[in-house]
Amino acid sequence: MKPWPFLVFSLGLRPTDCYDNGAPHSRKPPLGWSSWVGLGRQWPGPEAQAPEFDFCDEESVKLSVDAFHEVGLFDAGYRHFHLDDCWADHERNASGFLQADRQHFPKGMKPIVDYAHSKGLTFGLYTCAGTYTCVGHRPGSKGHFREDAAVFAEWGVDVVKMDWCFTDGMQPEPTYTAFSEALNATGRPIHFNMCEWGRASPWTWGPRVAQSWRATGDHVPLWQDTKKVIAQRSQIPAAYAGRPFAWNDMDMLETGNYRQAAHANGKTGNMTSVEYRTEVSMWAILASPMIVTTPLLNCSKTDQIAGNFTSGSCRPSITPLQKELLLNKEVIAVNQVDTPAGRLLKDAGSWMAYSRDLPDGSVAVAFYNPSDSTADASLDLSALGWASGTMARVRDLWAQKELPQTRDRFPSTGFVEVQAHGTLLYRFSKVSELIV
Ligand code: GLA
Repeated sequence: MKPWPFLVFSLGLRPTDCYDNGAPHSRKPPLGWSSWVGLGRQWPGPEAQAPEFDFCDEESVKLSVDAFHEVGLFDAGYRHFHLDDCWADHERNASGFLQADRQHFPKGMKPIVDYAHSKGLTFGLYTCAGTYTCVGHRPGSKGHFREDAAVFAEWGVDVVKMDWCFTDGMQPEPTYTAFSEALNATGRPIHFNMCEWGRASPWTWGPRVAQSWRATGDHVPLWQDTKKVIAQRSQIPAAYAGRPFAWNDMDMLETGNYRQAAHANGKTGNMTSVEYRTEVSMWAILASPMIVTTPLLNCSKTDQIAGNFTSGSCRPSITPLQKELLLNKEVIAVNQVDTPAGRLLKDAGSWMAYSRDLPDGSVAVAFYNPSDSTADASLDLSALGWASGTMARVRDLWAQKELPQTRDRFPSTGFVEVQAHGTLLYRFSKVSELIV
């Protein structure tokens, strides 16, 4: 492998103890797309037929890069393009290096990475710390950390996700530290995303070795699961909740996935639009990476089932619900800042308020109602640390609409109604403080 001709400027830890090695789009939570349930074939096949998900090949990946732009993700600020457990050949090459699936990527991975880069995207690949990858049973990186890091750097990869299957007897912290060192030894700035599902409290040691780490198990598009991920994530102490280059990853956004998506972990998405809105709101305010996994291509049924993705039979497409929920720039702006991640502000039992300070002094507030009935919510602005008498502007971020100004309390009288499983998202800005 060729050594990289440049050095990474800040591999050492900074006083803030966060991990900036120069990898792109890491200061703020990564915003992007993953192939995980976005490129399956044999769906929507007959009910009884298990979908083959985690499929990818040269054609489908290039078309998805194009579609990333055409469906509006790029314009809304998304930049990361990740291939999950789908790309590696089942055998290493004769020299022991990982290689792209020889049948699906006959020209190898480098031209694919170059193509994504030529379209302004940051390119990510998946590997696993253990003997095999989780679902694809492809070669894991165990025993090959140096070679695998070198291959990723040689191809120009910007992000590596490392999973935790088949790791009997291994410990997360030393293992991920070793791979992080191997990545940095290449001289290429690579964003490291650790995926041990939050088991060894990665938020306590992760900021020394990675820019993001899974804080929870796999997220599937079922309401009970989304609710569980939000609850587990909320348990992380505020000091570890997330800051620049150190983000707690709640796993991928399944927004708007029904039968058009390969079934994540065997589950078909069935969440309502209200529940999917909660998903996006809470991922945004809790400063999770927002990596969408959903098909960006609508292909003819025959070609879809055969896994024959061609520009002739596939057109770029996401659903109107996905456009509404994933492309709202004011909601994305709550996520795409480098202030500390949001925190639980008020627990009213049936509903909760979360807040995130924004760089301009305004505060994003989410009213989240995980209960099964409508909740009446309100907030004393003193909870934001604002002096008594403060007049605030209020913006409804989903509606992208200014609401009447209010003093000391929101709403000024009565309550806002939060639907069961729903979330309202606002931005509060100080207009004036009463001078007494
Ligand atoms: C694990 C990870 C998922 C996905 C699959 C791929 O389950 O947690 O995010 O990467 O492996 O096999």
